[in-house]
Amino acid sequence: MMFNADELKKAFMDDIQAAKSEIQLSEVWKKYLGKTGSVQGLMNGIKQVAKEEKKAYGQFVNEVKTWVQEKYDEKKAQIEAFELQQKYEKETIDVTVPVKIRPMGNLHPLTTVKYEMINVFSGMGFEIFEGPEIEDDDHNFTRLNVLKDHPSRDMQDTFWLTEDLLLRTHTSPGQIRVMDSQKPPIKVLVPGKVFRSDSDATHSPMFSQMEGLVVDKHITLCDLQGMLDEFVKGLFSDAAKTRLRPSYFPFTEPSVEVDVSCFKCGGHGCSLCKGTGWIEVLGGGVVNKKVLENCGIDSEEYSGLAFGIGIERIAMLKYGINHMGKLFENDIEFLKQFKA
Ligand code: DAH
Repeated sequence: MMFNADELKKAFMDDIQAAKSEIQLSEVWKKYLGKTGSVQGLMNGIKQVAKEEKKAYGQFVNEVKTWVQEKYDEKKAQIEAFELQQKYEKETIDVTVPVKIRPMGNLHPLTTVKYEMINVFSGMGFEIFEGPEIEDDDHNFTRLNVLKDHPSRDMQDTFWLTEDLLLRTHTSPGQIRVMDSQKPPIKVLVPGKVFRSDSDATHSPMFSQMEGLVVDKHITLCDLQGMLDEFVKGLFSDAAKTRLRPSYFPFTEPSVEVDVSCFKCGGHGCSLCKGTGWIEVLGGGVVNKKVLENCGIDSEEYSGLAFGIGIERIAMLKYGINHMGKLFENDIEFLKQFKA
């Protein structure tokens, strides 16, 4: 015999027992079973074996090789199983660990109310138009028939920027801008911020309005009441009704104040409606012919209706908020209450 098989086997077993990972095991494979490994070395030794012993030698080397390979395969399977087990253990998810709760935001109540209003009116075919917050005298007053030196200018205490420019005091100038840029039939909503020098529990220097304007043939006050009936039903409840009271606005003739039946007491009288059963929600009317003419619309052929709604007022009524300032303080604890 040209070599000691037991020595090779023992060296192999020492190496394979020391191998703890697939990488280390692949080194052992190279050392014994690779092209230049010890087992191959045995194979090569056949050249020096006498002819008559070659067959027995070959068989013997093959047995050694098979033995080495078997031991190697066993160890490989062990290491693979072990590594897999370790991977599983590392990746185990403990479903009992408490989760971190991420705070979720919610819409501001004014945004919610604005969307609800837009939703109801867009169901009736209204489109949205937005005008500038800095207006000129012409759009904010003159062409809306609020003439210079007329006392109605004092109805809205204005922030003037120059002799001609101002922060719009209402969304009504949006009416002029729409009629300047579109021909009838017109059916638009103009939501936006407005500014007045006024501040107490129910007024703020900045607040928001939603203007409505419809211009077409044969539009009357009945159309206004019909649309507003739909509006209060959609926004408050199916049982809500409207009531029109005569009023005055320079841009409408006739003009009305619109009340909604109290949604808290159903019209019987409570603290919210101050015992009257009705709550004032908006102003409106039939568009003054002068305003249509100021925009180049033939007031013999066309007529219109218009209305202006204070969004904060609606939100305060809906949610029972008693101070308008609360809507602008950005107090998170207050705003959290409006989670849908
Ligand atoms: N612009 C009015 C205001 O701010 C509200 C208003 C009343 C708008 C009557 C209208 C209307 O379009 O027809 O007080």
